[in-house]
Formats: sequence, structure tokens, C-alpha cells
Amino acid sequence: MKNGLNIGFYRQDSKDQSKTLVIACPKQGSPELLYFGDALPVQTDLSSVYMSQQAGIPQAMMDKPVPMSLLPEAGRGWLQTPAVEASAEDRPTWAACWSLLDVEALESGFKIRLEDNVAQLSVSLSIGLLPSGVLRQQLTLTNQGQGDVMVQRLACTLPVAARFTERMGFYGRWCQEFQQERSDWHATWLQENRNGRNSQANFPAVMVGEQGFGEQQGEVLGAHLAWSGNHRLKADYTAEGHRYLQAEVLYLSGEIILAANESISTPEFLAAHSGTGLNAMSQQFHQEARARLQLAKPRPVHLNTWEAFYFDHDMTKLKALAKAAADVGVERYILDDGWFRGRNNDKAALGDWFVDENKYPDGLMPLISYVKEELGMEFGLWFEPEMVNPDSDLFRAHPDWALQLPQYEPALARNQLVLNLAKPEAYQYIRERLFSLFTEYPIDYVKWDMNRDYSQPSGDIAPQAHAQVEALYRLLGDINDAFPAMEIESCSSGGARVDFGILNFTKRFWASDCNDALERQTIQRGFSYFLPPEVMGSHVGPDKSHTTSRVHDVAFRAGTALLGHFGIEWNLLEANDEQKATISNWLSHYKRHRALLHDGKNWRLPSADGRAQTQWALSQDRLQGLAVYSQLAMPKQAQTLPLCLPNLLPDQLYRVEVLEHSPLPGHLMKALPAWWKQDLILNGASLSQVGLQLPIFDPESLVLIGIQAVPAMEKH
Ligand code: GLA
Repeated sequence: MKNGLNIGFYRQDSKDQSKTLVIACPKQGSPELLYFGDALPVQTDLSSVYMSQQAGIPQAMMDKPVPMSLLPEAGRGWLQTPAVEASAEDRPTWAACWSLLDVEALESGFKIRLEDNVAQLSVSLSIGLLPSGVLRQQLTLTNQGQGDVMVQRLACTLPVAARFTERMGFYGRWCQEFQQERSDWHATWLQENRNGRNSQANFPAVMVGEQGFGEQQGEVLGAHLAWSGNHRLKADYTAEGHRYLQAEVLYLSGEIILAANESISTPEFLAAHSGTGLNAMSQQFHQEARARLQLAKPRPVHLNTWEAFYFDHDMTKLKALAKAAADVGVERYILDDGWFRGRNNDKAALGDWFVDENKYPDGLMPLISYVKEELGMEFGLWFEPEMVNPDSDLFRAHPDWALQLPQYEPALARNQLVLNLAKPEAYQYIRERLFSLFTEYPIDYVKWDMNRDYSQPSGDIAPQAHAQVEALYRLLGDINDAFPAMEIESCSSGGARVDFGILNFTKRFWASDCNDALERQTIQRGFSYFLPPEVMGSHVGPDKSHTTSRVHDVAFRAGTALLGHFGIEWNLLEANDEQKATISNWLSHYKRHRALLHDGKNWRLPSADGRAQTQWALSQDRLQGLAVYSQLAMPKQAQTLPLCLPNLLPDQLYRVEVLEHSPLPGHLMKALPAWWKQDLILNGASLSQVGLQLPIFDPESLVLIGIQAVPAMEKH
């Protein structure tokens, strides 16, 4: 307690980032976020800071000011959404007022325990700064009474600075994930996801900041709910001028009922603060993802069979494609949908996880041995374990294992229903099928798909959407425990299930079914705000995109794929020798630079005219960098503006090298920039502050530029 205020102050500084978190805990009432942002001096007198924040009492408002707390309480006069909403038959639980029980120090932050004796509820709030600088928050609510408690809401709340008046977020659809939108934040903003999975429309993240924040400037805060299902995200403000973010799992009516002593927890709510724009915010999320991923080896180049053959699995062609892939340098071959019993189109067979005897009379081993032993690649296999087609042996035997209310017509999507994983028999069946195939075959990699939204998450009286996601996490956890060397990719009709919740169990996301490199440039930029490039599956598709019919040269497709976890999803048997040689070159660049791309820091650098963008990766020691400058649309001016590459060591000399580029047909230019074919050596300050002139590119083309530190003596 400080200065008789009856308030405890809890301060934490992140290990790797200069950030400070200060929580004020009053005896009565819920904890307040006194500060989260750039580091405060250690000697800061927190009780004086607290005093300086106590506002006057305005006319026409509550007689006692209602604090902007971490657990807003309706019972104390909070007029917006409270942290907890619950009902019971034996006592009032709908207006909980919290009192402090105790505070426990955790490795990162504190666990603050609170209770309300009238409501007979307790809540514990874990909050702290992770070494990455990311703030982590999680709530657990416990029923301490005798009667049941029905929980409508358990929401994490994060107050933000009152000067944050702009907001940025995402929208999307199939083949157009992570589309960015922003607006002034002068009204309540709400994202409500009832799709069962996160969906393309509702990536669970939002960014707020001061007016005009950009990639490299302005104070911003990005927040993300680590959950793969129904959710609400809100950015709101009060009449007093407080601004805050709120994040919760959206519980359907009657979904969460706590018996005596039962608890429910929120997922993690993560937030990163930056005083210097969005890139520094993203870098903290990237660091946080990397700390969780702990990747054991470099990301191998993939070949995925989907757009090459779809459901048409023919051993001769599959082997020929594997050989062509190995010849250009592919390292992992993934057999996509179509390999299991009766799966000849998307209308039947999901649930029947047995190898198709017609397509594979000798099982999968002949293909796997060829891929692994003769060609030296890893082998991966596609599954969609949470699903069942009504036209399947599984459904015919167990119609009650599907999530659907028998009294209503089932709402089908892609001709399929969701399997009720919260039902022990269904869970056991799927677990047994997967374990049996993983034991029979040496599978290195699983592409775990999930191809539909759903809104009937139960066959019973109460909905079970929350239990479904928890069962999925349990199943993925079981598999990781039993097969620790096998990697799992999260795919959901492309990028409909991308979040830190499922990232705890998976190593890669399929960002989109759209392999059109132009669309990918926007999708991947959106993806990069919260997730690092090494988890972003990005493939070189065929010349003519299967989802947009656009045609792009190999350089634009490959340079775009280089920005993530590189793969090929193209029938190489249809590629000519020149294309195969080009792709092989790009693969070599990827292999040479993947440590830098996947361990270094990454920046998004928009062009001043908005028609081009640069992705810039710099090694942690700042001695090696790689830039992909992509011309997305016709430039607005006749010359490009100099490309400035941030964060290089100012006095260090660097060699600038053009490594690859799209064709430069010359109709936009009479002559290339003077340095283009020369040995250019510049110091870091010049590269960061003066920049490089580039040629004028056609729309939908790009250039790959390498920056390598050189010893001072090399410069003559
Ligand atoms: C989804 C995935 C694709 C592919 C198909 C197979 O659409 O996103 O990559 O695996 O399913 O049916």
C-alpha cells in the first residue's frame, strides 16, 4: 500500500523490449491499468502517477467517478459492457462488484484474485508482459455458490490512450483474406463472429492509434484474441472519454453453465504497443510467435498436389510430379485431398479415413517410399478430421455424431457437416483413425483442413461451439504429444482459421486458396500484421491463376511466394524448361536466405503513391538484408521514388545487389538507373535515409535486392 491510498501498484518491464506495465489494485473495486507503453524510469513514483490520473467529477455524471478498470463492473456504475455477465436462480450474479483477495507474482506479470460474496463468484486475472513486449491477459471465472451459474459473457478489457482516435482492422472472404480497412474511431466498433471457426470475414484482431499512424510512424496498439471460434471484439469509448478494447469468446445462449466450483477461462488476449508505427508492433507479435513455435529446422520448400491434380490421383502422374519437384529443389511433397476411400469429388467420403483401394491398391507406401527414399523429400498428407459428408460410411453408421439439430433441416456447406468432437465416441473414432494412419505410414507433415462455417453447433439442448474448439485443441495436443516430429499445418478453406490459439499446436497456416500473386500481395501484407513470414504458406501457382484467371510471369509469382513459407502448387509437368530453370533459381535464393527471412526482423514499406510495396527483412545482427520491391499497379509518376531501407547500421558499408527481377521490356524506360549493373557499395545511413533509385516496372512485377555488409577495406 502506498501513501495511504489503499492501492497496491504492480509494475513489470519486458525483458527484451523497453515496455512498462503498471497495474493499480484498490481493495474495493477491480484493478486498473495505470500504464502500458514505452518504458518509464524505474524510479517513477507510481502513487504520484496514480494521483495525477484522478480526474474531477463532472456535472450530470455518477457522483463517484467510475474508473476505467480491467474488469468493468455494472454494479459500480459502469454503463457499458461489463467484464462478467451471468445469471443464477439462487442469488444475484448479474451485477458483480469485485473486492481484492490477493496478488500473486508470476514469471511474466501477476495473477490478481478477486471475489464477490453476494454473487458468490470469484475471478482471477492474469496479466503481464512477455519477453517479446506483448501484453498477455486472461480471465478465469469460478462459481463459488451452490446453484448453477449461466455465463453470458467473460470479457478481457484493455484501456487504451484517449488520444487513439483511428482504428484499423480486417475484412475478407474466400480467396481474399486479411483485407485491411481503417477508419476514424468516433463510434463503437464491434466485430461479432458466429461462424464456428474464425472465418475469412473475422480475423480476431484490431489496431488503434493516434491520428495518421502508419507503418513507420505514430503511436499504435494492436490486439489479438488467441481463439479459433466464435468471438466478439469491440473498440469503444465512454462519455467521460475513456477508450478501451474488449475481447471475448461469444457464448451462445445457454452454452456455458457452471456447476458449483466449476470454472471457465478466456483465451489469451494479446496486445503490443509501439511508439513508432505498425512495423514495430508487428515485430513484437512476430517475436512472440517465434517464442511459441520453437521451429526445429529451416522451413522446407513444399510441393502441394491440389491445383495440379485435384481429386484425380494417378500413381504414374503423382510420381512424375514428385520427380519434377525434386529436380527443381522441392524438399517436402504433400498429397492433398482425394486419397481416401470414395473421395472422387467434394460430395462424399469425409469421415472415411481409410486409403482408397481403387486409387492405391498397394496402399500409400509405394508413393511414400518413392518420395522419401528415392527422391529424398519429406512426405505430407491432407486431412479434414472435423468433418463428415452425409454420403459417407461414417455418417450412415453414426448420424448422431454430426453437429445438427435433427428437428431442423441441416445447413450444409461444401456438402458436409461438422463432426461433434465434444462427443467422446466421435472423438475416439477420429483419434484412432489418425493415430493408426500416422503409425502405419511415415508421415512427416499433416495439412489439417476445415472447410466450412457452421451455426448449428450441437445436436442437443445446449449449443457446444466452445466445447468443439476445446476438443479440437485437445486432439491436436494429443497428436503432437504422440508424434512430436510431425508438423501440422492449419488450413481452413485457405486462411479462415489463423490465430495464436491454434498456433500453439501448428507450425504453418495456409493463408489463402488464392495463388494469384497480385491478390497474394495484399493478403500477405494483411497476414503480416500479427504473424511472421515463416508460418505463412505461400505457393507458386500455375501461369494462369485457377481462382482469378490472371496470368503472371514466374518471377512475380516466385518473388511473392518467397515472402512466406515457400511452396509450389503448379503441375510442373506442364512447365517448360526455361520456367523450371527460373523456379529453381528462386528456390536457391529462398534456401540461401530463409534463415534471414524467418529469423530476422520484417518491415512493410509502402510507396508514396500507394502503387508499390516493399517487404524488407534484416538479420538480427543487421549485417544482411533482403528486399522485395513489388510494383502492384501502374506508378503515378514517371520515375520511382527512392527506396529507403530502414534500420541498417549507419556506418556499416553494404553491397547492394540485384538478385532477380521480372522482365524489363523497356517500354516504360529508355535506360536503367546508373547503379543497376554496377558494384554499388553504400553505408547504412545512405541506404536508410537517401535510398536507391529503381527502374520503372510494369504493373505486377518485382525485383529482389540483396544487401550484404562488406568489410571497410573492400571499398576502393
Ligand atoms: C480447401 C483447401 C485447399 C485444398 C482443398 C481440398 O479448399 O484450402 O488448399 O486442400 O480444400 O479439398
